[in-house]
Amino acid sequence: MQTRGQFERADFLCKEGFIMEEYIKSPLNYTGGKYKILNYIIPFFPENIGTFIDLFGGGFNVGVNVNAQKIIYNDHNIYLSQMFEYFKQYGVNIIEKIYSRIKEFKLSEENQQGYLTLRKIYNEQKDVLDLFILTCYSFNHQIRFNSRHEFNTPFGKNRSEYNKTIEENLIRFINAIKNKNIEFYSKDFTFLYDFSLNKNDFVYADPPYLISNASYNDGKRGFKNWGVNEETQLLDLLDYLNNKGIKFALSNVIVHKGLENTKLIEWSKKYNIKLIKKSYNNSNYQRKNKDKQTKEVLIYN
Ligand SMILES: C[S@@+](CC[C@H](N)C(=O)[O-])C[C@H]1O[C@@H](n2cnc3c(N)ncnc32)[C@H](O)[C@@H]1O
Repeated sequence: MQTRGQFERADFLCKEGFIMEEYIKSPLNYTGGKYKILNYIIPFFPENIGTFIDLFGGGFNVGVNVNAQKIIYNDHNIYLSQMFEYFKQYGVNIIEKIYSRIKEFKLSEENQQGYLTLRKIYNEQKDVLDLFILTCYSFNHQIRFNSRHEFNTPFGKNRSEYNKTIEENLIRFINAIKNKNIEFYSKDFTFLYDFSLNKNDFVYADPPYLISNASYNDGKRGFKNWGVNEETQLLDLLDYLNNKGIKFALSNVIVHKGLENTKLIEWSKKYNIKLIKKSYNNSNYQRKNKDKQTKEVLIYN
């Protein structure tokens, strides 16, 4: 593990605004994505990792930035791993296809009808590149499904469109995916019990947070929800890894809008815990009000 000094350096760099020019940002603006706090997370990973497992990969902001002999991306949302597999297979050739789809449907930040037509076609044909294009034009770039696994994010009118920033992120992301040794899984996180791990492997877990609610959390999106049972199963799994001498790091929040995750706080006492960020909702009243705090942490063994 890296030293305390390195964490303080990471802390200093973030406060001074030296925010990670060197990190790759996922082209998906993923809810709960860790891009903005990678400086607080990656310095805590061991050096010389054999297999790195991004157990709740989401937009893949973390794993894509890790150096390891092999990287495993996992997320139980199968459309994400399919999309990243597709990026790996077709590389930057997809950019041309994106432009031709934009032209075909006259997509723009104003053309809601074009977006809705492509959304309907995606839900019939399930082409993963269409799903990516939809996220460029969707409200807050969100990727949300209904219980029938139909993509249902509304149009991001006057706000969202495919632009040069997304394209630059996409190209860097695709190049990293092609150059690294990555495998994509779409399993429930408990698959790790049946997965053979060595002492130089490393597991990073960024699950949904029990005390905050993201759109992938509520069990109404066609995927399993995140509740007390899942949280308990995950903490048990991390204990199991620890007992086998496998290193892990867990991202989470211990306080959010007046709620405390007391079970997690108790459990974390066995391990190292670093406060990554204390944030407040954006108003003076709330800034003064401790009940509105969020405390984001990294817990590692
Ligand atoms: C906080 S997000 C991960 C964000 C990611 N680290 C990033 O930076 O883009 C949590 C992810 O866990 C996934 N997830 C939820 N329950 C799961 C489960 N039981 N097994 C595997 N993945 C799960 C969700 O689909 C979601 O993408």
